Amino acid sequence: MNRAEAAKRVEDLKAEIRFHNRQYYVFDDPVISDGEYDTLFRELCALEELHPGLRVADSPTQKVGAEPLTAFGTVRHRLPMLSLNNVATAEEFHDWVGQVASFLNAPASGLRFTAEPKMDGTAVEIVYLRGVLAEASTRGDGSLGEDVTENVKTIRSVPLRLSSGSGVWPERLEARGEVFIGRREFESLNETRSRAGEELYANPRNTAAGSLKQLDPRLTASRPLDIFFYGVAESPPEWKLGSHWELLQTLPTFGLKTMRELSARGTSGQILEYQASMLERRETLAFEIDGIVVKVDDHVLQDRLGVRARSPRWAVAYKFPPRQGTTRLEKIGVQVGRTGALTPVAHLEPVNIGGVVIQRATLHNQDEVERKDIREGDTVLVERAGDVIPRVVKVILDKRPSGTHPFRLPKECPECGHTVRFDPDEVVTRCVNMSCPAQRRARLEHFVSRRAMDIEGFGPKLIERLLVKGRLESVADIFTLDRDTLMSLELMAEKSSANVLEAIERSKVTPLHRFIHALGIRHVGEATAEILANQFGSLAKLAEATQDDLEEIDEIGPKVAESLVEFFSDDENRKALFDLEKAGVRPLASKPVPVSSSLEGKSFLFTGKLTELSRDEAKALVKRSGGRVVSSVSKSLDFLVVGDKPGTKVKKAEDLGVALMTEQEFLTEVRGV
Ligand code: IVH
Repeated sequence: MNRAEAAKRVEDLKAEIRFHNRQYYVFDDPVISDGEYDTLFRELCALEELHPGLRVADSPTQKVGAEPLTAFGTVRHRLPMLSLNNVATAEEFHDWVGQVASFLNAPASGLRFTAEPKMDGTAVEIVYLRGVLAEASTRGDGSLGEDVTENVKTIRSVPLRLSSGSGVWPERLEARGEVFIGRREFESLNETRSRAGEELYANPRNTAAGSLKQLDPRLTASRPLDIFFYGVAESPPEWKLGSHWELLQTLPTFGLKTMRELSARGTSGQILEYQASMLERRETLAFEIDGIVVKVDDHVLQDRLGVRARSPRWAVAYKFPPRQGTTRLEKIGVQVGRTGALTPVAHLEPVNIGGVVIQRATLHNQDEVERKDIREGDTVLVERAGDVIPRVVKVILDKRPSGTHPFRLPKECPECGHTVRFDPDEVVTRCVNMSCPAQRRARLEHFVSRRAMDIEGFGPKLIERLLVKGRLESVADIFTLDRDTLMSLELMAEKSSANVLEAIERSKVTPLHRFIHALGIRHVGEATAEILANQFGSLAKLAEATQDDLEEIDEIGPKVAESLVEFFSDDENRKALFDLEKAGVRPLASKPVPVSSSLEGKSFLFTGKLTELSRDEAKALVKRSGGRVVSSVSKSLDFLVVGDKPGTKVKKAEDLGVALMTEQEFLTEVRGV
C-alpha cells in the first residue's frame, strides 16, 4: 500500500471507528462485535505506526497513551462554571419555585421545568473548536480550572471530534458535563486492586475526580471513566434552541451524550413526582446520583433570571435525604478554630456510610450537645450529606451504657490554657487569647487551603513543623521561606521542598476574592468574598471602605460590615497585609465583565411598585449593566426609579437634585432601545 492509499484507508477507518464509538458509548447500541471493533482499531494503529504523518490529534487511537503531563496548566473559563443552590424538601422546592415566579413577576403555575439526575462525579468543561476537541478543564474555583485536556481525551465516551449533528459544527462550543465512574466499573476496579493487595478506593466520586487529575494520562486511561453532558456555557445561536429540554435532545446528535432518557419536563408538580420516582430508582441506576437538578426550561426566562454571585437563579439542586448509620461515640474532643471557637468533636468508632468511612463528626457547640444529650460511650445516629462534615443526629438512648456523664466544655482553652469566654450572640465559647497557637495554626491552615490561596503541599504537618521552629509568626512568613529552611525539616526532601516553593510562588498571583476569603475575616465566607471583590476591585479600596460604604451593598449586613472594618483597622492585620504585599503577593481584581457596561459606575434606587419587572429583576438588570443599587437616597445617588405609589423618597430625591426616572425610562436605559 503506498502512502496515498494508506491515507485513504486511514480516513475510512477513522470514520468507521468513530461511528462505532458513537453507537457503543453514546447510544448504547453497538452494531458490531467487540472482536470486529478491535480488528478495525488495530488496523488503524498499524497504519499510523507505519506512516506517523497520518496520525493526527483527532484520531480515535489518540484516546489512550499520550505522554505524561508535567503539571497542570490553568484554564480560564470564558463564562464562570457556577455551582447550584440546594433544596432538601418539597417545601423548600416550592419556595424556590415561588421565588422564581416572583422574580419574573409571573404566576408559578405557568412555569415549566426540566429535571435531570444530579450526577455524583466531577465537573468538566470541554471546548470544541469547529468540531474538534481543543481543551478540557476542571471546574476549579469556577473561574480558573485545571487543564486536563490530555486526560479527558482518554475518556471513551468523549468524542475527539463532534459528529455533524443536525447542522454544521459551531465555531466554538463549550460543553459541560460530569465525569463519573459507574457502580459496576467501580466495584471491579476495587476487586482488581484487592487482588493486587492494593488499598481500596473509598467511593466512585473521589476516584473519578482523582483519576481525572493523574499526571500521567495513561493512568487516567486505565480507569473506567464515563461522562454525561448537562449543558453548554452558551447555546450556539445557529442551533436556535428555545429550551434546556431541546438542548438535551440536541447534544447527542453531535455525539455528546446527555441523560435525556432519565430526564423529565413539566410543571413543578410533575417535577415533584419525578423526584419521588428517581429517589425510588436511585439504587437501580448504573451510576450514583445524589439528587436531581431542576432547571427553568425556557432559555429566555433563564436569561432574565440570570445569576447570583455563585449560582444561577434558574436552577436548583434538589438533594436526596442524607445517608445515615449508627456507631459508638468513643470520646468527645475539643477543637479550637481560627476564631478561637471551641468546638466539641465526636470521635467515633469507624463506620462506613454510603461508601465513606466516618471517624469524626462535629457536635457544633455546648448547646447542641446538651439539647441532644450526647455523652461519651453513647451509640449515636450519624449522617452524611454530600461534602458537609458528618453530624450526629441523635443518641440511641436504649443503648446507653450505665455510668455516663453529661459533657461540659472545659473552662480553659485545651491548647493554650487561657480562660475561655462564652459569647451568647453566637452561642460559642471562645479562647480569647489572640496568640493561642491553635488559632494561629487554624488560620494558617485556612489561608493555604484549596479554596483560599490553594498552596499545594502546604499541609497541617508542614505547618506544625514550621510553627515548632518559630518560622511562621504570621501568614506573610510563608512567602519568606527558602529551600534551606524547608530542607532542614524532617521528612522534607529536595523534591518536595522544591514543589512547595513553587506552589508558594504560584499563589502570589491570586484572584482577589480568594485572597479576601483566605484572610479569614469573621463572617466573610467565599460568597461574601466574591461580592466584595466584585464591588471594590482592589484590596486597597476594600480596606478603606467605611461601615456605610459596606452596608450600601445589597448583600452586606451590619454584622459583616462591622467585622470588616474591625479587621482592617487592627494594627496586626495591617502589618500582615503590608508584609504580604512586600513579599510580592498580588491579588488580582476579579471584576467580572458586565454583559454591557451602559450603566457603569451609576447608582440606582427604586421606590414604589414596578409593573413590568419585579424589584429583584430590576436590581439584577442594574448590576448586569455595570451599575450599583443603593439602599437610601443621598446626594451621590444618580437615579431614583419611581414606580406606582412611591414613598417619601421622591421628595427627598427632588430636594437633593437627584434625577428621577419612570419604569419605562429605566427599561429603555438598560435595554438600550
Ligand atoms: S447544571 C449552572 N446539571 O453539580 C448550572 N449540574 O452543584 C450548573 N451536576 O458543578 C450545573 N449533575 O458538577 C447540572 N444534571 C446536572 C448535574 C450537575 C451533576 C454537578 C455539577 C455542578 C454541581 C453543582
